[in-house]
Amino acid sequence: MHFTRADFPEDFVFGAATAAYQIEGHGFGGAGSTHWDTFAATPGNVLGAQDGAVACDHYHRYAEDLDLLQAAGMDAYRFSTSWARVMPEGRGPVNQDGLDFYDRLVDAMLARGLKPYQTLYHWEMPSALSDLGGWTNRDVANWFGDFTEVIMDRIGDRVEAVATLNEPWCIAFLSHFLGHHAPGLRDLRAAARAMHHVNLAHGEAMQRLRARNQKNCGIVLNFDYAVPADNDPDTLAATDLQDGIANRWFIEAITKGTYPTVVTDGFGDHMPKNWQDDMDLISKPIDWLGVNYYTRHIIAPDREQPWPSIKALDDPLPKTDMDWAIFPEGLKNFLVRLSNDYVGDMPVFVTENGMAGDDRLSDDAVDDPIRAQFVNDHILATKDAIDAGANVKGFFYWSLLDNYEWAFGYDKRFGIVHVDYETQKRTPKASYHALAQALKTNR
Ligand code: FCB
Repeated sequence: MHFTRADFPEDFVFGAATAAYQIEGHGFGGAGSTHWDTFAATPGNVLGAQDGAVACDHYHRYAEDLDLLQAAGMDAYRFSTSWARVMPEGRGPVNQDGLDFYDRLVDAMLARGLKPYQTLYHWEMPSALSDLGGWTNRDVANWFGDFTEVIMDRIGDRVEAVATLNEPWCIAFLSHFLGHHAPGLRDLRAAARAMHHVNLAHGEAMQRLRARNQKNCGIVLNFDYAVPADNDPDTLAATDLQDGIANRWFIEAITKGTYPTVVTDGFGDHMPKNWQDDMDLISKPIDWLGVNYYTRHIIAPDREQPWPSIKALDDPLPKTDMDWAIFPEGLKNFLVRLSNDYVGDMPVFVTENGMAGDDRLSDDAVDDPIRAQFVNDHILATKDAIDAGANVKGFFYWSLLDNYEWAFGYDKRFGIVHVDYETQKRTPKASYHALAQALKTNR
């Protein structure tokens, strides 16, 4: 790594991120069914129809996993608290075992000097609420608000920071328009409603968090860098629309209380009635913004298809195992743009950045030089953004462990720690050791 801690502000935090369904083992401890369980059980949705029932067995092995973070010299751990583990039906009865698990987990972080960065929703909608329409039902905001209170009553006194939602674009658009994630809908009307209700649920949860004086409340958004394929006005318009759907829809709503009109025009009458009345709640101040960044897309108009009539072209850049182009400059650009156009001096954290690689275990080691380079380049891009004036306060690698990569099952390995799913043995990869080395220098 070509950086040390001395290159970053003194209070800058380095950490790694995970999410509940991807690592815990949802089959343990009385957790309720989620829309990912049924989506995975339906042929053709997930590679090998794999689900999160066992995953990395983190539910039982969390102590060992937190030891790995501590041994790497990390300052913080970004984790999520599963709604269906805490409230198996999504509403009503609380699963004490679920609350006890998160209580132990947070204490175990603190015992190792790791700051807990919690995410309230990282995609596992309880099935009983899916039955009622999940994100397409306006009531989801209140259901989510109630869950927020239940979990924060138990661990809110000890977490360093809390994010309402992880990646609302994925929750709403990827899952209700593109159909790639649970609940797997491909429907304009469902998408329009989910796109608004995720923001409303964020606003409602923020209000509940404020009412209990919870500190450091924010949200984690994903940003996808849109590059026009050429300078044709139609191409520029398609790129602007793509940026509107993927990026501006969320950050603009949350910081300014407005939606890009290119997107509301496309959703038309499918937007929930009187959505304008919700924008005040949606845009109440947040304390910090989480930025997830992975890749860019080269955008062109797709005249064969109805709105949004956009397609992504092949990218000549080197790609990861997900087929995602590697473009660290995109991270710097977003961090600077967000600071200039939306959040000013508000603290920003890179809450996810990482890559899947074709990692092979040999002699108890994994040599992953491409990942080490990737991490280095994105951490340096973060430093460039700080030098350009962005108030970035931390960087979390995605992910600590190889884990359940949603529609790709266990096929894609993002971890700095390798997981053998047969034995659950953890093996830190070369990138883990390189990062640990960098974090120990100039401590
Ligand atoms: C993000 C998700 C995370 C993981 C990474 C690769 O979109 O937040 O759960 O799947 O992508």
